[in-house]
Amino acid sequence: MKFLDVLAGDATWPPPLWLMRQAGRYLPEYREVRAKAGDFISLCLSPALAEEVTLQPIRKFGFDAAILFSDILILPMALGQGLRFAEGEGPRLPPLEDVSLLMPGRAAGVYAPVIETVSRLRQSLPKETALIGFAGGPATVACYMLDGQGGGFGRTRQLGYENPGFVRDVLAVLVESTIEYLSAQINAGADCVMLFESWAGIFPPSQFREFVIEPNRQIGVALKARYPEVKIIGFPRLAGLMLSEYARNAGVDALGLDSVTGIAAARAVCPPGMVLQGNLDPLLLKLGGKALEAALRGLLDEMRGHPHIFNLGHGITPDVPEAHVKRLVELVRQG
Ligand code: CP3
Repeated sequence: MKFLDVLAGDATWPPPLWLMRQAGRYLPEYREVRAKAGDFISLCLSPALAEEVTLQPIRKFGFDAAILFSDILILPMALGQGLRFAEGEGPRLPPLEDVSLLMPGRAAGVYAPVIETVSRLRQSLPKETALIGFAGGPATVACYMLDGQGGGFGRTRQLGYENPGFVRDVLAVLVESTIEYLSAQINAGADCVMLFESWAGIFPPSQFREFVIEPNRQIGVALKARYPEVKIIGFPRLAGLMLSEYARNAGVDALGLDSVTGIAAARAVCPPGMVLQGNLDPLLLKLGGKALEAALRGLLDEMRGHPHIFNLGHGITPDVPEAHVKRLVELVRQG
């Protein structure tokens, strides 16, 4: 599989390609299945429907990898925290006050349908399409658990200074349960896994080391001990000057990059040969035209000769025209 060869360090040309949130609201067939499911969480927990929406962008665009359709917040829900998605507003959880309320022993039973989706997908996907399993990075999941919603994560940031022991306890539960959750996905057929540390960038350096790098490393070490062949992609979004330390110490094989991090500059501060994934600005995919084509050309040229997985720097937004995605795929395939 071309995608897995690059993840193992080959510099193939043109690079393999997939897009974060490639299954989603910009596709009319997704909106149809989503309406049938009723709500987003039911969709994540319905193996047949989650399988279908994972396959939709593969059929339509022929990406090199499919990503399991689920959400990073299914794990805290499985641990017993309430979760709902307020229409048009995003996730809402009752802010966590006490780690002893979490029930790691029950989680596997709740996320079982997600694991079932992985098994179905490995059967139904074309042989040449890699299947990416994923979880949220512990720091990012803790942000939602402690604040109860996205935004500035003010409570998490305050706790980081005033009650770091509480934050550490939450992270410890998340590390253990994320190891089990990703192991289950790998056992069910995921070819590699990605850790979404989307809010890594809110932590100052000492907390970044303790809350982001160390928990990611513990997950990486445990997974490598069980599955030496399975590659891990870390996505420490907006890591800034901490990127180099993350690349060296977080136990990951590849780095997903956001769009404000120059990819050549990132390469210069990472260990030689580190696999990089990204990082076209999702706004360009909405705009299309010459701006998209010029930036795409620049990114391809910058990474030619290096192990690169073409992607966006963040997820596709619902307002992206399908025709722009088609054009992007065509241009990447031409090299
Ligand atoms: O196609 C894929 O990328 C796979 C599925 C996937 C989703 N969420 C589906 C989703 C993945 C890998 C995620 C990860 C995720 N979820 C992250 C990390 C990546 C990132 O975007 O930074 C985060 C922070 C979340 C939490 C989350 N889920 C938020 C903040 C929201 C609301 C914002 C939004 O885009 O609506 C979601 C909802 C969500 N997750 C949707 C999808 C397709 C939209 C749900 C809908 O259909 O209404």
